[in-house]
Formats: sequence, structure tokens, C-alpha cells
Amino acid sequence: SLAPLVDGFAREITYLRMSVTDRCDLRCTYCMPERMQFLPRAEVLTLEELYQLALGFMARGVRTIRLTGGEPLVRRDVMDMVRALGRRLGNGLDELTLTTNGTQLGTHAEALAAAGVRRVNVSLDTRDPALFRKLTRRDALSQVLNGIAAAKAAGLRVKLNTVALKGLNEVELPDLIAWAHGEGHDCTLIEVMPLGEVDGDRIDHYLPLDAVKERLDQRWTLTPSGHRSAGPARYWNVAETGGRLGLITPLTDNFCAGCNRIRVTATGQLYPCLGGGERVDLRAAMRSADPETELADGLETAMRIKPARHNFAIRAPGEAPAQPRHMSVTGG
Ligand code: GTP
Ligand code: 5AD
Ligand code: SF4
Repeated sequence: SLAPLVDGFAREITYLRMSVTDRCDLRCTYCMPERMQFLPRAEVLTLEELYQLALGFMARGVRTIRLTGGEPLVRRDVMDMVRALGRRLGNGLDELTLTTNGTQLGTHAEALAAAGVRRVNVSLDTRDPALFRKLTRRDALSQVLNGIAAAKAAGLRVKLNTVALKGLNEVELPDLIAWAHGEGHDCTLIEVMPLGEVDGDRIDHYLPLDAVKERLDQRWTLTPSGHRSAGPARYWNVAETGGRLGLITPLTDNFCAGCNRIRVTATGQLYPCLGGGERVDLRAAMRSADPETELADGLETAMRIKPARHNFAIRAPGEAPAQPRHMSVTGG
């Protein structure tokens, strides 16, 4: 069989994040501007091509695939690809999962479970309808909450992803976590990252999670959890709620030494790191006369150029983002 993917820092890459579309039905203010310029449709790979790419990565030792976006469930026929990948579970693939904003889960939760998906990560920054409308610029809170309920009913484990935002959902965080735990869901807080221009300045709402954790420590008993997921979150058990709290801290506590991931965009661009480093054009490789060799070359290049760590730093007000591309392009 083919050699595993090991980068220049001896990190083995076993986790592929695949953005199936950069489009989204919400417009979260920290993620994109209201008038977001999406990738030209003509440049987006077909689902068949994305599937072939995924198989290529699996042949090189990738065991976890997470479909992302944008919003993965707004891509038409994406469930066909989920079903195709689901058939590889236990046969090259250990975990197939999805990061979603939840708006389409009411429609797709059952089918996801039937395809072999065991858990989903759902973005939810607030349970307050007015704040939800302000943060996402769309009126979809009840649809998302119904989606989360549908996922639970279908037997999917749910992890909520919550970007911690100063002056916005800051005061609601304990309630949101307690609610998630009451529903049986893990909840992970995320520091806002400087990816792509948005309307306004993210730094106004940047909330470092060490400060949030200190406040939660006064309310609850948090003890380190042995739990590890595939990603960068560090987990804590909350004695009072009986639930698990994850913290994703790219800015205050770098986790890159343990990195096991790469990501591919809907146009077949491989980004070895979310923050920094060049990209590798796998679409050109796939459409070349000798895809097998070109793909192997592309992956070798990616392993060589994957940086030790991201280049995110806490920005001064008005400073340009560390990365010009948005989270919705690389899917995190
Ligand atoms: P699991 O651990 O498998 O549940 O997944 P995850 O938490 O890694 O994935 P998810 O898509 O839910 O991402 C949560 C947040 O973590 C998003 O904001 C991602 O952008 C961020 N994230 C995931 N991987 C990385 C990474 O390698 N570097 C950085 N800086 N952020 C990441
Ligand atoms: N910084 C941090 N998280 C972000 N997300 C989107 N943009 C950013 C950003 N700039 C979050 C979404 C979702 C996850 C995949 O990434 O809210 O929960
Ligand atoms: Fe890996 Fe880059 Fe994420 Fe760090 S920021 S964990 S190196 S992908």
C-alpha cells in the first residue's frame, strides 16, 4: 500500500477536512461580509471529483473525513457523496462527519445517520432570536434548533460550536453551555480567527478563552477530561452539568504541535494549514494526463510546505486579517 502522509515536523496526517461548497445560507458577521463574493461555480469540482480526491487521501492513510463548507448541506446532491463515503466506513475510513450550521438538519439528519455518520458539529452562537438575527443576518434560529433536535432524534451525537464574542454572546455563554449539556450535547468554545475581510473589525469582539475559562471556574468545577476528538479542542468535564466543555484556542494557546489535519477547498485547492503556507492545486493534478503521479507529487509538496504553526496573532484594530481567504473557503 502507499506511504502515509508525514510532514516535515514528523506529524502524521490522518484527518481531511473537505469543503464541499463555500456557499452558505447564513451570513455570520465574523465569518463573511453581507455581500460575500463566492467562488465561481465553474471552478468548483464535481462531487464525483471530490469523492475521487477523498479516495486518494484514504489510500495515503487518511482515516477521518469531515465535510465542511460554507454550509455543506446546501450543496445539491451532497447526500449522494455522504452515502458513497459512508460505504467506506470500516473499510479504510474510521470516521465520517460534518460541520454544519444546522439549518438543513431537519431534512437530512435521518439520512446522515443511515449513511453511517455518528456525530455532527453544529454551529450555534446564541439561543436568543434577536442576537441570532444580528449575528447571522438571517432569521433562522428556530430552524437551527429544530435541526439540532432532529439530529438528536436520529441518534447522532451533537457537538455545538460556539464562537465566543465579546459584548455579543459573552454574557450568555454559561446558559448556552448549561443548555447544551442538559440536552446531552458537548459544547466547544472557539476564539475568533482573523480569516478574510468582514464588514467591521473582528478585534472589537475578540474574547480570549483563558479569561472565559477563569469566569466559568468561579461558577463551576472544571476538571481536565481525558477525552480527545479528532480536532484541536481541549476538553473539560463540568461537574455541575455532567457535560463536556471544549476550548479551541488558536490565539491564546497554540495547539499546532499535535496537528493531524489538512484541508481541501471545493475547487480542489489543498491548504496544508488554516493559517499560513502555500496551497497546492489538486484540481490541476486531477485533470492532468497522469492524475495518479500528479496527485502523489501534490501531496508530497503539501507535506514539505506544511508550516510548523499558523500565523494568527492578536491584531491591532484596523489591521488586515492574517489570511485573506475566509473560513468558508477552507472550512476551518
Ligand atoms: P472534532 O474535534 O472532530 O469534533 O472536530 P473539530 O472541532 O476540529 O472541527 P469543527 O469543524 O467543529 O471545527 C471547530 C473549530 O475548530 C472551527 O472554527 C475550525 O476552524 C477550528 N479548527 C479545526 N481545525 C483547526 C486547525 O487545524 N487550526 C485552527 N487554527 N483551527 C482549527
Ligand atoms: N474565527 C473562528 N471561527 C469561525 N467560524 C467561522 N469563521 C470563523 C472565524 N473567523 C466558525 C463557525 C463554525 C466553525 C466551523 O467555524 O462559526 O462554528
Ligand atoms: Fe495545524 Fe495549522 Fe491548524 Fe496549527 S493552525 S493546528 S498547524 S492546520
